Amino acid sequence: MNQISKKILFSRNEIQKRVKELASQISGDYAGRELVIIGILKGAFIFMADLVREINVPCKFDFVRVASYGASSESSGKVVMTKDIETSIKGRDILIVEDIVDTGLTLQYLVNWLKERSPNSLRICVFLDKRKRRKVTFEADYVGFTIDDGFVVGYGLDFDEQFRFFPDVYIIEQ
Ligand code: IMP
Repeated sequence: MNQISKKILFSRNEIQKRVKELASQISGDYAGRELVIIGILKGAFIFMADLVREINVPCKFDFVRVASYGASSESSGKVVMTKDIETSIKGRDILIVEDIVDTGLTLQYLVNWLKERSPNSLRICVFLDKRKRRKVTFEADYVGFTIDDGFVVGYGLDFDEQFRFFPDVYIIEQ
């Protein structure tokens, strides 16, 4: 990984196993209903693609794009929406899919934004939960893995737009 030192945190096999478990839980919870799954670009695209292919209830898809990090590993603390959904979600069952929740500011902003459009229900599925760094009270409904502090890349997660394509998840060593 160029000059950055890294250590594997979750292998592709561990990820695949956990994604199947999450999908099975979600399929059970939404049996007999239709979901609208909203992915948060760019980080969630790989997780979302794997997850939805294991879900066995009907799903429709949309995406939002929010930016909270620039070219650094520290959050700016400011969330900006750069692409909104294009689907009506009024009265629909919504599942937001995100790569990682850290301070919680991004998801808090998005949940408030989407709730104003009166969905029937709204739940959140995150691949990784960096629980210790929360700045706002926030709980995801479905969590792939809980991790400690530290910056992770791979499986959609980037550092300055690099490393998203890695099939495994790595922690960057300082
Ligand atoms: P939050 O608003 O602080 O919860 O941050 C959420 C966003 O920060 C995620 O969607 C990621 O884009 C980014 N992020 C937070 N921690 C990491 C990390 O360890 N690696 C890569 N991106 C991260």
